[in-house]
Amino acid sequence: MKFKLLALILGTSLMLVACGGGDDAAEPNEPAGGDSGATTASAEKIYKQNCAGCHGGDLGGGAGPNLTAVGSKYSQEDIASIIANGKGIMQGGIIKGEEADAVAAWLAEKK
Ligand code: HEC
Repeated sequence: MKFKLLALILGTSLMLVACGGGDDAAEPNEPAGGDSGATTASAEKIYKQNCAGCHGGDLGGGAGPNLTAVGSKYSQEDIASIIANGKGIMQGGIIKGEEADAVAAWLAEKK
């Protein structure tokens, strides 16, 4: 009887420890290695997560304009500034810093 209770308490506290510790490890923020190839892959992933809802998964447009040839219309700096400041109903600052740079560079290649 006593032993069962002890095991229960011990078990519960172990579970708490395990759950608490899990949070820190749950966010692997590592970019997936490599240099140029990884940048393209992650830029596309960032785009899909943040922009595709309006601009389409294949850049074909939707609620927002088609971006398949956006690189012939804007420079990388222009695109970075659109991402930072927004345009029309598109709000600025959806992505920032390195993510914004990577997506701007990636979109500037679309010509
Ligand atoms: C809520 C929907 C929405 C989201 C999310 C969104 N956009 Fe837009 N985007 C728009 C709309 C609408 C326009 C057109 C604005 C205008 O010209 O008035 C636009 C315009 C643009 C333009 C200029 C296109 C052109 O031909 O003038 C670029 C570049 C752009 N968006 C990139 C992005 C990127 C990169 C992301 C993700 C970080 C993103 N957008 C997220 C709706 C969105």
